[in-house]
Amino acid sequence: MKYAIGAILGVALFAWLFSVCSPAGKNKTGHEYMPDMYHPVSYESNQYSDYHWNHWNAAEDGQTFSKAELSQPRGKVNGSVPRGYTGVYYTDASALDIVRGKNAPNAIAAPVNGEAPFTYANNEDDRLKCEKEMSFNPFPITNDGLNRAKPLYDIYCGVCHGAKGDGQGVLVTVPDAKYPAAPKNLLGDDMVGAGNGRFYFAIVYGKNVMGGYTDKLSYEERWQVIHYIRSLQAKAKNLEYSETANSLSNIEKPAKGVPSGPGRVAPAAPATPTAPAGK
Ligand code: HEC
Repeated sequence: MKYAIGAILGVALFAWLFSVCSPAGKNKTGHEYMPDMYHPVSYESNQYSDYHWNHWNAAEDGQTFSKAELSQPRGKVNGSVPRGYTGVYYTDASALDIVRGKNAPNAIAAPVNGEAPFTYANNEDDRLKCEKEMSFNPFPITNDGLNRAKPLYDIYCGVCHGAKGDGQGVLVTVPDAKYPAAPKNLLGDDMVGAGNGRFYFAIVYGKNVMGGYTDKLSYEERWQVIHYIRSLQAKAKNLEYSETANSLSNIEKPAKGVPSGPGRVAPAAPATPTAPAGK
């Protein structure tokens, strides 16, 4: 009996709580049960469509930020260096182990994030300069890296460039395809011969109708995706590109082997940035 009364009172209490909610009227603000859960005050990232309940919309209520500004992926505060920042030139897998804190029992791992210096501007001159100067992939070829890059490539690139890299992604091959521009055939001789910097540049800035992917792929992921594209190029040419062998080029280093392909010619040493005079 005691419980039955308790239950009835509980249900009644909830019924009453909900009945207190009321729609907004002409001269009434109305009541809502937990309004912040129903109409979040947070903005929706990556969303440009009209979101009526976005309370911070400059156009509607004269606030500081415009909707476009609020929905852009955020960068770091100017002048700050985020934790996990890395632009180190890794020559072998053991250097990576140090970054990941595997070199000693009490070593601290730095999560490798999307932050790395990239000083090229988005123009044709810098595109060519980047291709020439960023010849090395800072990560060794590992099967683990290729396995992690496959789904990233399939999700972010394959829809246009094709699962095989031949430029025949679903966006262009589905019957009645509406995608207007032909995605680059990444298996063409020009792309096989292209320096790694050309791929990296394309991931950072995109090209014409293709957008950039820095907010989707971290620094390491970008380079692993480039490795994966190289492996697709090798596959198309019946060559090997793996942890143990690279017969596609003489540049990217297999973690457990030596590069042996003809391909691109490696410059004598990786370019080291020189400090501007007076600093
Ligand atoms: C929405 C379709 C689309 C997606 C997704 C896409 N691309 Fe592209 N990509 C294109 C098109 C179209 C071009 C040709 C641009 C041009 O030359 O005008 C292109 C060109 C390129 C080029 C050649 C750039 C050059 O210097 O000529 C590379 C490299 C490339 N994409 C890599 C990638 C990678 C890596 C990804 C995934 C992270 C990706 N793309 C995702 C459409 C796409």
